Formats: sequence, C-alpha cells, structure tokens
Amino acid sequence: MEKLQQVYEGKAKKVYATSDPELFIVDYKDDATAFNGEKKGTINQKGIINNRVTNHLMKLLEKNGVPTHLVEEISDRETIVKKVTIVPLEVIVRNIAAGSLSKRLGLPEGTKMKQTVLEYCYKDDELGDPMINDYHIFALDLATQEELDLIAKYSFKVNEVLSAYLKDLNIELIDFKLEFGKTTDGTIILADEISPDTCRFWDTVTGEKLDKDRFRRDLGGEEDAYKEIMKRLLGE
Ligand code: TMP
Repeated sequence: MEKLQQVYEGKAKKVYATSDPELFIVDYKDDATAFNGEKKGTINQKGIINNRVTNHLMKLLEKNGVPTHLVEEISDRETIVKKVTIVPLEVIVRNIAAGSLSKRLGLPEGTKMKQTVLEYCYKDDELGDPMINDYHIFALDLATQEELDLIAKYSFKVNEVLSAYLKDLNIELIDFKLEFGKTTDGTIILADEISPDTCRFWDTVTGEKLDKDRFRRDLGGEEDAYKEIMKRLLGE
C-alpha cells in the first residue's frame, strides 16, 4: 500500500490518498485545539494514543455489529481506513450532564438525566458547529431520513457497547462525539476517531477527568490522563 498525496489536514489528523482508490491513510498528530481552534497546544504522544485507542474501540464495535472505516493499523500514528465522504454532522451522545449541555440547560456537571440525550451539530467551523435538529438536517440535505435513522441506531449501539466495556475498566462514559461517513457505494459507516479528544471519561471511583477537558480547562496532567486511558484499555 503506497502512501500518496495529502488530501486533507484537520486539527488533529492528516489524511493521505493511497495507491488503492477506495482506501486512505490517517496520520494522527499531537496537536491539540479547543474552542474551534482558538486555543492551541500539543499533548505529547497524543497522536499515538488516539490512533491506538480509536482502533482498539473500533475493533470492539465491529465485533458488536457497528460497521467502521477501520482497515489496518500500520504504524504508531497511521491507520489504513476506508475512503468515505464525511456526513457533515457531529453526533453527540450524552449519558451524564457535562460541558455545553450543562451550560445551556443549567444542569450542574455530573447530573444524572432520566435518559440518554442525542444531539446533532452541523460540522462547519466558520459557523462554530451549531446544534441542529432532524428538520434542519433534511432541509439542508445533509442526510436522508434512512441515513439519519441508521446514524442514530449506530450511535446508541456505540453507547451501549462502550459504556459497558469502559465500566469494567473503572471508566464512566459521560458523553462523546461521533462522525459517520459514506463509502463509494453509499453505505453509512462509523469514521473519524473515538479517543480522549472526543469523549469525556471520568474515573468511576475518584471522578477524575481522563480526557481532553484537562487541556480545554487548563487542569494540567493531560499527558498522564491520555496515558492512563491507553493503559486501562490496551494494558500498556
Ligand atoms: P460539549 O459538551 O463541549 O458539547 O462536548 C460534548 C462531547 O463532544 C465531549 O465528549 C467532547 C466532544 N467534542 C468533540 O469531540 N469535538 C468538539 O469540537 C467538541 C466541542 C466536543
């Protein structure tokens, strides 16, 4: 598999074309941003940890019936993935109130809610990823009803599988963000990453934050938190 020209550079990853038109290579960076790129920094080894954690969790999800873009991890920071067109939605699943939901609804962080919350944001940096509902999604033709039904079904399945898996590792899955893509033949699959950048992980015993909120909120210890997640999930 030959790595060809870069086709995209995001805030945390670069994507390259390959000699196979249906495959890309993702390359994870140590760069960290928050607040739509306003705050910038690096978290040492983050690219390696996010690559390995994402692939570990995507394998678990595949086994449990959620199709993903994962093909093969080829180095510490690089993974071969299926080529997709990203559906321009950030799909957020929330088990416990935190972050922007806490602010928006005045619920203190850590508040248990009566049921899981599913939110959609329009993936557009210039607009600051505004929250939208299914009417907006159909009006803007971002996805069809059938595609959105599948995205919601997969998102709840991801929540069920990951919450149970992480609980055994003393990690509470507070909330997370997913992105989905469409393959050339139109199949919807899970894409992007699942990592401490895109999830809130709280230690079930101490309540300690083991995710990117340490960077976003200047709490310090982000490197150790990412390493701790890798250790609990991959044993190293
Ligand atoms: P929020 O509470 O800030 O809306 O974040 C909800 C979840 O989404 C949280 O687990 C962090 C994740 N997230 C991203 O992955 N990317 C983003 O740009 C933002 C704002 C949140």
